[in-house]
Amino acid sequence: MAPLARPSLAAFLALCAFATVARPPAGVDAANVPITTCRSFCGNITVDYPFALRAGCGHAGFRDLLYCINGALMLHLPSGSYRVLDIDYAYRGLTLHDPAMSDCRALDRSRAGRGNGFVVEPWRAPYLAPDPDNVFLLLGCRASSPLFQGFPDRHLPCRNVSGRGCGEYYGCPAWDDYGGRRPSGAAYGSAVPPECCAVSWDAIRAVNVSRLECEGYSSAYSLAPVRAAGPAGWAYGIRVSWALPEANRGFCGACRATGGVCGHDGDSHGDLCLCGDWNSTSNCDSSADAARPNAASAAPRAIPALCLGVLASGFSFL
Ligand SMILES: *[C@@H]1O[C@H](CO)[C@@H](O)[C@H](O)[C@H]1NC(C)=O
Ligand SMILES: *[C@@H]1O[C@H](CO)[C@@H](O)[C@H](O)[C@H]1NC(C)=O
Ligand SMILES: *[C@@H]1O[C@H](CO)[C@@H](O)[C@H](O)[C@H]1NC(C)=O
Ligand SMILES: *[C@@H]1O[C@H](CO)[C@@H](O)[C@H](O)[C@H]1NC(C)=O
Repeated sequence: MAPLARPSLAAFLALCAFATVARPPAGVDAANVPITTCRSFCGNITVDYPFALRAGCGHAGFRDLLYCINGALMLHLPSGSYRVLDIDYAYRGLTLHDPAMSDCRALDRSRAGRGNGFVVEPWRAPYLAPDPDNVFLLLGCRASSPLFQGFPDRHLPCRNVSGRGCGEYYGCPAWDDYGGRRPSGAAYGSAVPPECCAVSWDAIRAVNVSRLECEGYSSAYSLAPVRAAGPAGWAYGIRVSWALPEANRGFCGACRATGGVCGHDGDSHGDLCLCGDWNSTSNCDSSADAARPNAASAAPRAIPALCLGVLASGFSFL
């Protein structure tokens, strides 16, 4: 590096210091927006990006999804409301509980179909889906169910999912008094239709209990391989994964690095960096991309940019 004593360099650094300190008016400044602008709590669950409880916060794929009701975090979908038991930000997983579903202790069935299963709006589907390891156990589906159409007699869509299936589920206390008998462990290919049909999310993409002409459902997952535990050891609930578009990572990283908080536009649903008293479609350092037209011109940015460029080049041209 060139010696700092060089007058031209000293003058240049002084200019840089001045240009950096004498920042242009608000709106062009890098922001310092409190993280609590969008992060919040519901009970003991932290709600943070891409989720949010406030309009305009979080990613648009998760808008109108979570609600805090009397300290309980609820997730609303067309198929119903689910209690959120956990949000795992590291593994991008949500653990949900549906009070209307069957578990190992008790069956919850009715002719009209109890519990609505799990149906995601088509526009939200790229962002939210049950885990591939999550098994849906559909109970009492009629022979005319769309589930069995195209697979006469063989019930092909029913299968074990990650080692969990109806054969084991029949071992639950819930089936002890079922019609005076326990369904056969040979779950598939015998009874028509089977009392229980286990499917993965990928096989049907929408668990609409009434449309599938079933009487109820259960759902189980496990976060760690628990092969020996059996159905009493399964976790009953719905384990959901979320995903964000690849481009969002860069956007949100840049937004945070410039002191902003990631959010979205309530109308266009596009990514928006919340910079305090203004919003940007890129980050809080770029007035040119202000979502709301800003009076300050881009010119004052030129000098700090030049300084940065010079610093980055290691003063080689001075
Ligand atoms: C929240 O509290 C409940 C008990 O009130 C506990 O079972 C649960 O594990 C807690 N969840 C988190 C994410 O800390
Ligand atoms: C910035 O965007 C948020 C979220 O969409 C909105 O609530 C807020 O009013 C916007 N602020 C300005 C200054 O436009
Ligand atoms: C489930 O299916 C029923 C009957 O086809 C339909 O009326 C209902 O809108 C569906 N529910 C969802 C959430 O898709
Ligand atoms: C499902 O798993 C059970 C118990 O592990 C096993 O007995 C059965 O053969 C499996 N069924 C299928 C269709 O793979």
